[in-house]
Amino acid sequence: AIDPEFETNRDVAEEHEGHNVWGPVEEPETLGIHGTHVAVDFDICLADGACLEDCPVDVFEWVDTPDHPESEIKADPAHEDQCIDCMLCVDVCPVDAIDVDPG
Ligand code: SF4
Ligand code: F3S
Ligand code: ZN
Repeated sequence: AIDPEFETNRDVAEEHEGHNVWGPVEEPETLGIHGTHVAVDFDICLADGACLEDCPVDVFEWVDTPDHPESEIKADPAHEDQCIDCMLCVDVCPVDAIDVDPG
């Protein structure tokens, strides 16, 4: 599962589409955690898609991640600023790849 203390345990490695990427990042095998308020561990996400289907405000967008060992697309929190903290995505992700930190 995603480390809920990632902000303490990791450093920002880069930016992607306006949100932070928490390292380590070594493409293509290691992609880090995308987002901060809505954080998706790309190294755990296996492209189930439930988060994209269920998010009421469409926070997520697919991004291509060719040659990543878990999946070749990931749910990117492209619109994390629109999150309403319903926690649905956290509940439905089968591999606990998502952390939402209200407040
Ligand atoms: Fe979307 Fe709710 Fe998850 Fe926020 S907590 S990203 S609003 S499903
Ligand atoms: Fe990935 Fe979990 Fe969404 S596996 S696509 S973050 S439901
Ligand atoms: Zn991203």
